[in-house]
Amino acid sequence: MEREMILEVVDLDICFQLRGKVLHAIRDVSMELYQGEILAIVGESGSGKSVFTKSFMGLLDKNGYVAGGSIVYFGGEEEREVNLTAISRERDWRRIRGHEIAMIMQDPMTSLNPLKTIGSQIMEAVLLHQKVGRMEAIKRTLKHLEDVGIQEPEKRFEQYPHEFSGGMRQRVVIAIAIACNPKILVCDEPTTALDVTIQAQILDLLKELRHKYNLSVILITHDLGVVANMADRVAVMYAGDIVEIGTSEEIFYDPKHPYTWALLSSLPQAGQKGSDLFSIPGTPPSLYVDIKGDAFANRNPQALKIDFVKRPPYFQVSPTHKAKTWLLDKRAPKVTLPPIVEKIRKGGLF
Ligand SMILES: Nc1ncnc2c1ncn2[C@@H]1O[C@H](COP(=O)(O)OP(=O)(O)OP(=O)(O)O)[C@@H](O)[C@H]1O
Ligand SMILES: [Mg+2]
Repeated sequence: MEREMILEVVDLDICFQLRGKVLHAIRDVSMELYQGEILAIVGESGSGKSVFTKSFMGLLDKNGYVAGGSIVYFGGEEEREVNLTAISRERDWRRIRGHEIAMIMQDPMTSLNPLKTIGSQIMEAVLLHQKVGRMEAIKRTLKHLEDVGIQEPEKRFEQYPHEFSGGMRQRVVIAIAIACNPKILVCDEPTTALDVTIQAQILDLLKELRHKYNLSVILITHDLGVVANMADRVAVMYAGDIVEIGTSEEIFYDPKHPYTWALLSSLPQAGQKGSDLFSIPGTPPSLYVDIKGDAFANRNPQALKIDFVKRPPYFQVSPTHKAKTWLLDKRAPKVTLPPIVEKIRKGGLF
């Protein structure tokens, strides 16, 4: 099936100016997003997940800037392509933000106004983005509330955020995002603040909505466990770079990058009963200095000599799967896979 591309990032570089120094947060990243898919971006704290996706909406902090590359959006009105990296005026960003690409953050309370009713906040978005009159806007607001699984929408319409539980508030935030009619929904750790059962419900809701509203979803998480049943594709981010990308199956059953192996090994499901959780030893490299070679080399017990010298290019594993590791070079020695990879292959985990 030919998939339609909705967003294409090519060789993107993002830097921050901080106290006279430059932090290179996103290093030469390319990625495509397709119509209707759920793409998960996983990686540990500081790997660049939020910075990367904020750049699609002009939401970088003031000291941040795109230093190179392009982000092209293909879903604009009359299917016009828009080069997002060329946008500089706030007024132009407002045409994209919410309207074409919307974002849901970790803490729903910060995105809701405590002084306004739930209904009026959703309705504001409807009026702004859907070009309808008041009566129709009320009807649509109630429909959106229902679509995100909020019962008794008429009653809920009149209530304030503090009358909602955490999970319900996150549903409202999702309703507001949906009301803007976006084509891409970026969910930045949307469930981290919620407990496990509610977390699963919100993820199910996102899955359902992507069909109902024909959305492409980018799901950011540091929990690979969340991703397994949810994402069509997974991008693994490390030190400002996507080091491996593939379908969920490829990433879970045939991972190639040692960092992906380490992430899988640190899943709670991977721990043996009674043994300590595996955490990845060492720390990521500083982004203030030029990184030589493979950024993961100093934490990789099986690193090769070349890993410390030369940055690996992408090696294509399948048409949908590629990874930046010298292990995929023809000349690389065979290494033993960590036990977790074998275990998952035998069907022991998901
Ligand atoms: N305004 C800023 N000034 C300087 N550095 C910044 C700024 N914003 C982000 N960074 C740096 O950019 C890098 C990427 O940060 P980012 O927030 O994207 O990480 P993340 O993968 O989203 O992490 P987390 O899982 O903790 O949310 C980090 O090193 C961070 O310190
Ligand atoms: Mg983040």
